[in-house]
Amino acid sequence: MNEPQPNLRTMTVAATGASGSLFTREMLRRLEGDARVGCVNLVSSDAGLRVMAEELALSGRGHLLEQLLDSAPRKINLLANQDIGATIASGSYPTDAMLVLPCSMGTLARIAQGMSSCLIERAADVCLKERTRLVLCVRETPLNLVHLRNMTQAAEAGATIYPLIPTFYNRPASLDEMVRNYVDRVLKHIGLPQPDAYVWQPGAKQT
Ligand SMILES: Cc1cc2nc3c(=O)[nH]c(=O)nc-3n(C[C@H](O)[C@H](O)[C@H](O)COP(=O)(O)O)c2cc1C
Repeated sequence: MNEPQPNLRTMTVAATGASGSLFTREMLRRLEGDARVGCVNLVSSDAGLRVMAEELALSGRGHLLEQLLDSAPRKINLLANQDIGATIASGSYPTDAMLVLPCSMGTLARIAQGMSSCLIERAADVCLKERTRLVLCVRETPLNLVHLRNMTQAAEAGATIYPLIPTFYNRPASLDEMVRNYVDRVLKHIGLPQPDAYVWQPGAKQT
Protein backbone atom coordinates (compact mmCIF):
# COMPACT_ATOMS: atom_id res chain seq x y z
CA MET A 1 0.00 0.00 0.00
CA ASN A 2 1.44 3.40 -0.99
CA GLU A 3 1.30 5.93 1.84
CA PRO A 4 0.84 9.72 1.65
CA GLN A 5 4.23 11.44 1.25
CA PRO A 6 5.19 14.62 3.10
CA ASN A 7 4.98 17.71 0.87
CA LEU A 8 3.44 15.73 -2.01
CA ARG A 9 -0.23 15.57 -2.97
CA THR A 10 -2.49 12.69 -2.03
CA MET A 11 -5.34 12.28 -4.49
CA THR A 12 -8.48 10.17 -4.72
CA VAL A 13 -9.85 9.18 -8.12
CA ALA A 14 -13.24 7.46 -8.33
CA ALA A 15 -14.44 5.88 -11.57
CA THR A 16 -18.19 5.33 -11.78
CA GLY A 17 -20.47 3.91 -14.43
CA ALA A 18 -20.78 6.84 -16.81
CA SER A 19 -19.16 6.87 -20.23
CA GLY A 20 -15.67 8.37 -20.37
CA SER A 21 -13.06 5.75 -19.41
CA LEU A 22 -10.50 7.36 -21.75
CA PHE A 23 -10.51 10.36 -19.41
CA THR A 24 -10.01 8.19 -16.31
CA ARG A 25 -7.09 6.40 -17.91
CA GLU A 26 -5.42 9.66 -19.02
CA MET A 27 -5.92 11.17 -15.55
CA LEU A 28 -4.34 8.17 -13.83
CA ARG A 29 -1.36 8.22 -16.19
CA ARG A 30 -0.82 11.93 -15.55
CA LEU A 31 -1.05 11.61 -11.77
CA GLU A 32 1.26 8.61 -11.82
CA GLY A 33 3.85 10.63 -13.75
CA ASP A 34 3.49 13.89 -11.79
CA ALA A 35 6.40 14.57 -9.42
CA ARG A 36 4.11 16.73 -7.25
CA VAL A 37 1.87 13.72 -6.50
CA GLY A 38 2.97 11.14 -3.95
CA CYS A 39 -0.04 8.88 -3.57
CA VAL A 40 -3.24 8.19 -5.52
CA ASN A 41 -6.16 6.14 -4.20
CA LEU A 42 -8.34 4.72 -6.98
CA VAL A 43 -11.82 3.29 -6.38
CA SER A 44 -14.21 2.05 -9.03
CA SER A 45 -17.85 1.13 -8.71
CA ASP A 46 -18.94 -2.17 -10.27
CA ALA A 47 -20.62 -0.20 -13.06
CA GLY A 48 -17.41 1.77 -13.51
CA LEU A 49 -15.45 -1.45 -13.99
CA ARG A 50 -18.00 -2.66 -16.48
CA VAL A 51 -17.92 0.53 -18.53
CA MET A 52 -14.11 0.59 -18.46
CA ALA A 53 -14.04 -2.99 -19.73
CA GLU A 54 -16.39 -2.03 -22.60
CA GLU A 55 -14.75 1.24 -23.57
CA LEU A 56 -11.09 0.30 -23.15
CA ALA A 57 -11.47 -3.33 -24.25
CA LEU A 58 -9.85 -4.52 -21.02
CA SER A 59 -9.25 -8.23 -20.72
CA GLY A 60 -11.10 -8.96 -17.48
CA ARG A 61 -10.79 -7.20 -14.11
CA GLY A 62 -7.43 -8.70 -13.20
CA HIS A 63 -4.39 -6.42 -13.23
CA LEU A 64 -6.63 -3.40 -13.74
CA LEU A 65 -3.94 -0.84 -12.91
CA GLU A 66 -1.36 -2.48 -15.13
CA GLN A 67 -3.88 -2.53 -17.98
CA LEU A 68 -4.76 1.14 -17.47
CA LEU A 69 -1.18 2.36 -17.06
CA ASP A 70 0.58 -0.05 -19.42
CA SER A 71 3.07 -0.54 -16.58
CA ALA A 72 3.17 -1.48 -12.89
CA PRO A 73 1.76 1.28 -10.64
CA ARG A 74 4.22 3.14 -8.40
CA LYS A 75 1.85 5.51 -6.58
CA ILE A 76 -1.66 4.19 -7.12
CA ASN A 77 -3.56 2.05 -4.61
CA LEU A 78 -6.65 0.23 -5.86
CA LEU A 79 -9.29 0.24 -3.10
CA ALA A 80 -12.47 -1.85 -3.04
CA ASN A 81 -15.71 0.14 -3.21
CA GLN A 82 -17.23 -2.19 -0.62
CA ASP A 83 -14.46 -1.39 1.90
CA ILE A 84 -16.10 1.41 3.83
CA GLY A 85 -13.28 1.14 6.39
CA ALA A 86 -10.54 2.07 3.89
CA THR A 87 -8.22 5.03 4.56
CA ILE A 88 -10.15 7.58 2.49
CA ALA A 89 -13.36 6.88 4.44
CA SER A 90 -11.93 8.92 7.32
CA GLY A 91 -11.57 12.68 7.63
CA SER A 92 -8.29 12.05 9.46
CA TYR A 93 -6.67 10.84 6.21
CA PRO A 94 -4.84 13.64 4.35
CA THR A 95 -6.60 13.70 0.97
CA ASP A 96 -5.86 16.89 -1.01
CA ALA A 97 -8.60 16.46 -3.64
CA MET A 98 -11.05 13.87 -4.94
CA LEU A 99 -12.06 13.50 -8.58
CA VAL A 100 -15.10 11.46 -9.60
CA LEU A 101 -14.20 10.82 -13.23
CA PRO A 102 -16.53 10.00 -14.82
CA CYS A 103 -19.43 10.66 -12.44
CA SER A 104 -22.67 8.81 -13.22
CA MET A 105 -26.03 10.34 -12.47
CA GLY A 106 -26.58 7.59 -9.89
CA THR A 107 -23.41 8.44 -7.98
CA LEU A 108 -24.13 12.17 -8.32
CA ALA A 109 -27.57 11.59 -6.77
CA ARG A 110 -26.18 9.58 -3.87
CA ILE A 111 -23.40 12.09 -3.17
CA ALA A 112 -25.88 14.98 -3.34
CA GLN A 113 -28.09 13.19 -0.80
CA GLY A 114 -25.21 12.16 1.50
CA MET A 115 -25.97 8.44 1.18
CA SER A 116 -22.43 7.17 1.96
CA SER A 117 -23.47 3.61 1.08
CA CYS A 118 -20.10 2.62 -0.44
CA LEU A 119 -16.50 3.87 -0.30
CA ILE A 120 -16.87 6.30 -3.21
CA GLU A 121 -19.92 7.96 -1.66
CA ARG A 122 -18.39 8.00 1.82
CA ALA A 123 -15.07 9.47 0.56
CA ALA A 124 -16.99 12.17 -1.31
CA ASP A 125 -19.08 12.88 1.79
CA VAL A 126 -15.87 13.22 3.82
CA CYS A 127 -14.51 15.72 1.26
CA LEU A 128 -17.65 17.83 1.61
CA LYS A 129 -17.59 17.81 5.41
CA GLU A 130 -13.84 18.51 5.57
CA ARG A 131 -14.06 21.18 2.84
CA THR A 132 -11.62 19.21 0.69
CA ARG A 133 -11.89 19.85 -3.03
CA LEU A 134 -14.38 17.45 -4.66
CA VAL A 135 -14.72 17.53 -8.45
CA LEU A 136 -17.64 15.69 -10.06
CA CYS A 137 -16.99 15.09 -13.76
CA VAL A 138 -20.61 14.35 -14.56
CA ARG A 139 -21.66 12.81 -17.88
CA GLU A 140 -25.14 12.29 -19.19
CA THR A 141 -27.20 13.71 -22.00
CA PRO A 142 -29.87 14.96 -22.10
CA LEU A 143 -30.13 16.01 -18.46
CA ASN A 144 -33.47 15.61 -16.68
CA LEU A 145 -34.69 17.81 -13.85
CA VAL A 146 -33.53 15.30 -11.22
CA HIS A 147 -29.98 15.41 -12.62
CA LEU A 148 -30.01 19.21 -12.69
CA ARG A 149 -31.33 19.46 -9.13
CA ASN A 150 -28.76 16.98 -7.86
CA MET A 151 -25.98 19.00 -9.49
CA THR A 152 -27.26 22.14 -7.80
CA GLN A 153 -27.44 20.36 -4.46
CA ALA A 154 -23.89 18.98 -4.77
CA ALA A 155 -22.56 22.39 -5.86
CA GLU A 156 -24.30 24.06 -2.91
CA ALA A 157 -22.62 21.55 -0.59
CA GLY A 158 -19.22 22.52 -1.99
CA ALA A 159 -18.54 20.21 -4.94
CA THR A 160 -17.33 21.48 -8.31
CA ILE A 161 -19.52 20.27 -11.15
CA TYR A 162 -17.05 19.76 -14.00
CA PRO A 163 -19.07 18.24 -16.86
CA LEU A 164 -17.24 15.85 -19.14
CA ILE A 165 -17.44 18.26 -22.07
CA PRO A 166 -14.37 18.81 -24.28
CA THR A 167 -13.34 22.18 -25.73
CA PHE A 168 -13.30 22.94 -29.45
CA TYR A 169 -11.75 26.41 -29.54
CA ASN A 170 -8.30 24.82 -29.24
CA ARG A 171 -9.11 22.94 -32.49
CA PRO A 172 -8.14 19.47 -31.25
CA ALA A 173 -6.75 17.35 -34.07
CA SER A 174 -7.63 14.03 -32.43
CA LEU A 175 -9.70 12.38 -29.73
CA ASP A 176 -6.50 12.00 -27.70
CA GLU A 177 -5.91 15.75 -27.85
CA MET A 178 -9.49 16.38 -26.67
CA VAL A 179 -9.00 14.02 -23.76
CA ARG A 180 -5.60 15.53 -22.85
CA ASN A 181 -7.00 19.05 -22.92
CA TYR A 182 -9.91 18.16 -20.62
CA VAL A 183 -7.54 16.44 -18.18
CA ASP A 184 -5.19 19.47 -18.31
CA ARG A 185 -8.11 21.68 -17.32
CA VAL A 186 -9.19 19.51 -14.40
CA LEU A 187 -5.60 19.28 -13.15
CA LYS A 188 -5.23 23.06 -13.32
CA HIS A 189 -8.50 23.37 -11.40
CA ILE A 190 -7.12 21.28 -8.52
CA GLY A 191 -3.81 23.13 -8.40
CA LEU A 192 -1.69 20.91 -10.64
CA PRO A 193 -1.19 23.09 -13.74
CA GLN A 194 0.45 21.31 -16.66
CA PRO A 195 3.40 22.99 -18.36
CA ASP A 196 2.33 22.20 -21.93
CA ALA A 197 -1.42 22.78 -21.47
CA TYR A 198 -3.24 24.77 -24.15
CA VAL A 199 -3.87 28.38 -23.14
CA TRP A 200 -6.33 30.43 -25.14
CA GLN A 201 -4.71 33.10 -27.28
CA PRO A 202 -7.22 35.10 -29.26
CA GLY A 203 -6.61 34.70 -33.00
CA ALA A 204 -3.51 32.51 -32.59
CA LYS A 205 -4.81 29.61 -34.68
CA GLN A 206 -6.80 31.67 -37.20
CA THR A 207 -5.71 31.65 -40.84
C1 LIG B 1 -21.75 1.36 -21.50
C2 LIG B 1 -22.51 2.15 -20.46
C3 LIG B 1 -22.49 3.52 -20.49
C4 LIG B 1 -23.17 4.28 -19.54
N1 LIG B 1 -23.09 5.64 -19.60
C5 LIG B 1 -23.66 6.37 -18.63
C6 LIG B 1 -23.49 7.80 -18.60
O1 LIG B 1 -22.82 8.38 -19.46
N2 LIG B 1 -24.04 8.48 -17.58
C7 LIG B 1 -24.74 7.87 -16.57
O2 LIG B 1 -25.18 8.57 -15.64
N3 LIG B 1 -24.94 6.53 -16.57
C8 LIG B 1 -24.42 5.76 -17.57
N4 LIG B 1 -24.57 4.40 -17.56
C9 LIG B 1 -25.45 3.78 -16.55
C10 LIG B 1 -24.74 3.59 -15.21
O3 LIG B 1 -23.62 2.74 -15.36
C11 LIG B 1 -25.71 2.98 -14.20
O4 LIG B 1 -26.71 3.93 -13.88
C12 LIG B 1 -25.04 2.49 -12.94
O5 LIG B 1 -26.02 1.96 -12.07
C13 LIG B 1 -24.28 3.58 -12.22
O6 LIG B 1 -23.70 3.02 -11.07
P1 LIG B 1 -22.59 3.76 -10.21
O7 LIG B 1 -23.06 5.15 -10.00
O8 LIG B 1 -22.52 2.96 -8.94
O9 LIG B 1 -21.31 3.68 -10.96
C14 LIG B 1 -23.91 3.63 -18.52
C15 LIG B 1 -23.93 2.22 -18.49
C16 LIG B 1 -23.25 1.49 -19.44
C17 LIG B 1 -23.27 -0.01 -19.38
